[in-house]
Amino acid sequence: MSNILEKTDFKNLGAKYTGKVRDVYSQDDKVILISTDRYSAFDRNLALIPSKGQVLTGVSRFWFEHTKDIVQNHVIDFPDPNVVVGKKCKVIPIEMVVRGYITGITGTSLWTLYKKGERNFGDFILPDGMHKNQKLDQVVLTPTTKSEDHDRPLSSKDIIYNGYMTKDLWEKVADISLRLFKRGQEIALKHGLILVDTKYEFGLTPDGEVMLVDEIHTPDSSRYWQAKTYEDRIKKGLEPENFDKEFLRLWFKENCDPYKDEVLPAAPADLVQELSERYIQIYEQITGLPFKVETGDIGKRIEGNLKEYMI
Ligand SMILES: Nc1ncnc2c1ncn2[C@@H]1O[C@H](COP(=O)(O)OP(=O)(O)O)[C@@H](O)[C@H]1O
Ligand SMILES: [Mg+2]
Repeated sequence: MSNILEKTDFKNLGAKYTGKVRDVYSQDDKVILISTDRYSAFDRNLALIPSKGQVLTGVSRFWFEHTKDIVQNHVIDFPDPNVVVGKKCKVIPIEMVVRGYITGITGTSLWTLYKKGERNFGDFILPDGMHKNQKLDQVVLTPTTKSEDHDRPLSSKDIIYNGYMTKDLWEKVADISLRLFKRGQEIALKHGLILVDTKYEFGLTPDGEVMLVDEIHTPDSSRYWQAKTYEDRIKKGLEPENFDKEFLRLWFKENCDPYKDEVLPAAPADLVQELSERYIQIYEQITGLPFKVETGDIGKRIEGNLKEYMI
């Protein structure tokens, strides 16, 4: 279908790197990040979700605008609903994960580790007696290396000792991350949402300045819960009302072996549709703006909008 974007193949836009979700074209001083509709898990593309690329670009755009007084960001231009042109940076290979709540289900999530008895996380110690999805007394940083998304959290000492960042740089990006998260929580709450956790990527400009790159507070990089029902559901022992995109991943786990099978079954159309609608809803709630579903060939539209960036 032409109104879904699986991938791009521009020959004259610069060297192409195919990320999990974005196609990144690199020029001398800029990167062109094209958000596709790929839905990735188990290190592969599971399905295409209509409007997902546009939602991610639009949500990032909203947050870049609302945080630019805290830290400069890479944005040069949004020439198309699926595209951001950014200043090219040397990306620091650490994902700055920030958490306001103790939650998660993967083997190395904060809640899983806590449940197993872990209390000392290097830079912070958690008290006994915490419950799943409880608010942390203090927002915490649990950075990870960029390549191993689901690895154990590193401590700031590990990061400095292993040379990922100098102490000065660490202190700077840690401080910025906490301020960005605070701003994110404040604005999200005005829109009825709890920003639960997120991850930031930073880069260094050729002049050595810190810059926020990649994406910010998107539903792919962050967890959001509905604020209105949070207290009540926690009291009743229920999971918070969340923006859930796990159900499609689970469907694959139940219906094939996504780690081994060479060819995967096609995702059921009704689940794909449901997920697309959820992405659109979360866009509208976060930004407070109506989402404009674009019709027509996305690839062709992007090509037209990127004319001035062709080399
Ligand atoms: N301003 C920038 N300069 C250089 N690289 C960037 C910039 N912004 C984002 N990136 C990189 O572009 C890629 C975005 O595509 P993505 O699909 O997220 O890839 P990945 O699978 O590597 O996470 C990431 O690797 C990110 O680090
Ligand atoms: Mg990424």
